[in-house]
Formats: sequence, C-alpha cells, structure tokens
Amino acid sequence: MLFDRESVRRRVAGLGAQISWDYRGKSLLLVAVLKGAEVFHADLGRVIDAEVETSYDFMAVGSYGRATRSSGEVRILKDLDESLEGRDILLVEDIVDSGLTLHYIRRHLLARAPRSLKVAALLDKPSSRAVEVDADYVGFAIPDRFVVGYGMDYAERYRNLPDIHILLSPDERR
Ligand code: IMP
Repeated sequence: MLFDRESVRRRVAGLGAQISWDYRGKSLLLVAVLKGAEVFHADLGRVIDAEVETSYDFMAVGSYGRATRSSGEVRILKDLDESLEGRDILLVEDIVDSGLTLHYIRRHLLARAPRSLKVAALLDKPSSRAVEVDADYVGFAIPDRFVVGYGMDYAERYRNLPDIHILLSPDERR
C-alpha cells in the first residue's frame, strides 16, 4: 500500500481548502477526466466550499488498455457537454505521468477560450515526463511506479479499492 484512505482523505481536504481560497467569489467548472479521476473528482467536489459556485462536467480519453506506459496517442472518447467560453475551468486528473495526456487535453480545452484553465492532479510522477507540463494542484508526488485503487486501474481492475497501492511485478510478488 502506498497511501491509505485516511491519508488520501486528509490530502484531498487540504487541496479543497486551497482551491476554495483561490476561487472564492468565483464560479468553477470542475471537469473530471474519466475514468481514472472519477473518485478524486467526487471527493474533491465535496470539500470545495459552498461559496464557490461549482458545476461538474466529464470527458473521457483513451486509456493504455493493458499497457502500463503511455503511447502518446490520446483519443477523446467523450467530449464535454458544457461551453467553456469565458469560464474558470479546473481539470481534475488522477495522475500526470509522461504528461502527454494532460498536454493534449489542455490544448483541446484552451482552444475553447475559457477564462482560466488550471489542473488538479491527485498524483504526480515528475521523473516520468516526456513533455513539459505541470498540474497547479498536486496531491502527492510519487516515484515512477504503477499504482492502482481510488479510481485508478490496471486493465480496468482495482478501481474500487479505497486505498492506493503499487502494482507489483510478478518478480516482486514472489
Ligand atoms: P500520461 O499521458 O503518461 O501522463 O498518463 C496519464 C494517464 O495514464 C493517467 O491519467 C492515468 O489514467 C494513466 N496512468 C498513468 N500512470 C498510471 C498508474 O500508475 N496507474 C494507473 N493509471 C496510470
């Protein structure tokens, strides 16, 4: 186990407090990148102050399938329902790894003329970057290991685990 549910809860509450302060008096569109960020998005939304008028939207991008490395090719599987023009957007991601996904999505959303676009990522693997891109709010920086649980999967498994775990290789399991 890398982070238990209580550590995650505390860190997400901290991010919520920071985001509430930064967006006080504004309205915020909280965009989840499905499927991995679904759990983080749901928890983060509930720790943002009621004074920040918050709406939700969802987009889905192609995943790695069974691989544990990004191919660099990102496909939009589901686009947003809301217009972004003139709005403050907070994109909610599970992990920034190579950064290729975030780099692509940012460009895609900026083309729709939001007033601001920031990124909240629960986890960051800073040593794995292929492109220069960073989240504005980061839950935890982690080493370059594959993790599952709290919404994150390996081949669609383990998303429902309440804690965050490192996926061990067959050698490490022996
Ligand atoms: P990137 O394009 O390499 O930055 O990868 C971003 C996406 O890959 C994340 O939003 C995740 O969905 C997935 N991903 C990257 N690392 C992991 C991991 O350790 N566990 C599960 N999914 C991951």
